[in-house]
Amino acid sequence: MKKRSPSTPSETPEALRQFHLGTDDPHPAWDAGRAHGPVTLSDHTDRETMHFFTREDVEEVLGDETRFSARCNQEGMGPYMGEILLGKDGREHTTYRNLVSRAFRASALARWEEQLIRPTIHELLDAIAPLGRADLVRDVTAPYPTRVIAAIIGVPVEDHEKFHTWSTLINGGPMNPEAGRAASTAMREYLTPIVEDRRAQPREDLISDIVHARVEGEQLDDEHIYGFLRLLLPAGAETTYREMGILLLALMQHPEFLDRLRRDRSAIPHVIEETLRWESSAPMIARVATRDTEVRGCPIAEGTRVTLSMGSANRDANVYPSAELWDPSHPSDPPHLAFGWGRHVCLGMHLARLELRVGLDAVLDRLPGLRLDPERPVPEIRGTAFRGPETLPVRFEPT
Ligand code: HEM
Repeated sequence: MKKRSPSTPSETPEALRQFHLGTDDPHPAWDAGRAHGPVTLSDHTDRETMHFFTREDVEEVLGDETRFSARCNQEGMGPYMGEILLGKDGREHTTYRNLVSRAFRASALARWEEQLIRPTIHELLDAIAPLGRADLVRDVTAPYPTRVIAAIIGVPVEDHEKFHTWSTLINGGPMNPEAGRAASTAMREYLTPIVEDRRAQPREDLISDIVHARVEGEQLDDEHIYGFLRLLLPAGAETTYREMGILLLALMQHPEFLDRLRRDRSAIPHVIEETLRWESSAPMIARVATRDTEVRGCPIAEGTRVTLSMGSANRDANVYPSAELWDPSHPSDPPHLAFGWGRHVCLGMHLARLELRVGLDAVLDRLPGLRLDPERPVPEIRGTAFRGPETLPVRFEPT
């Protein structure tokens, strides 16, 4: 295979140079990265990371956990979350994932659809339906998945605003450590009496399962218990609310398609997959090289941190024609990588798809004439590590 070398800073295209520091719109950097090849960039702490942008490169790294470990996620998010599944490798990861994976299987989620997910979205829509206008992010997409994951885990749903705030600050910990640590402490203090209660009196919820789970005969220590809870709440809330905002924005920007979907709902699952491909709410994944190695001819030294831009791989023109367009007539094969791939593939992907499907169906039923508010600026999808519109001011016929 032809040797490739990651470019030096002076050879790096301008669009890529600022990328690692965070930007509202990473697409110009991703487009340049796919054309240019892997690059090494420094972040605000001068730490170097090698970035990969094409589908082939991303698949190779995610497909080989012996050469690329996820333990850097423990280093990055551990200070805010505790001991996390996302930072474990090999058998240890399998053991911990098995403790919670049953609750998130597609078959286990069926009962949540009618008991929890549909009532939650309708309750939120009840509040805005008579008004004829709303901010769909503030009023619907932000509280909806936060309430759902809170109920599944077994924490009081009425505290969803607290979870939403903590989730955002914990996920943003690497960029704003002080706020991230404060949110982590506050969340643990809040959870402690609930964990203690379930220790004494288990219920039918995920906290009870986690508190009473055994690994090699031993109950989990507090670091692992709170690690699970501090990963699951933010992972289940922030990603899905942002993706639902992206989905609704894309549809309102294609009103002819929105009308067609209102009449024929059979395309909803495909529209969701196309939206995840086009713009993923969590578009980057981190790994670290466990040895000196190479990725399709590009040399990588042991210990190098590697960032995979799934948002870029999902727009690789070698895989998807007119990849930059949101177009539900695109085939959904090969599947996108928005939920990652391999060992750490998103634990909550069936839940996320279910929430998006039920949520969109309810919005189409309850908000006739849904359109962007013509008197407000057109919302934009923004962010690097997490993407989505911050607001969605809309109008509809009051009912
Ligand atoms: C549209 C919504 C979502 C997106 C785009 C998304 C994206 C991702 C991605 C890309 C990964 C892989 C990370 C890696 O390999 O380093 C991941 C892992 C994970 N996701 Fe999601 N996610 C979503 C919704 C959810 C939900 C609803 C939950 C609720 C439980 C969840 C829980 C997790 C967990 C626990 C992991 C770590 C799995 C492991 O390490 O084995 N996610 N997610």
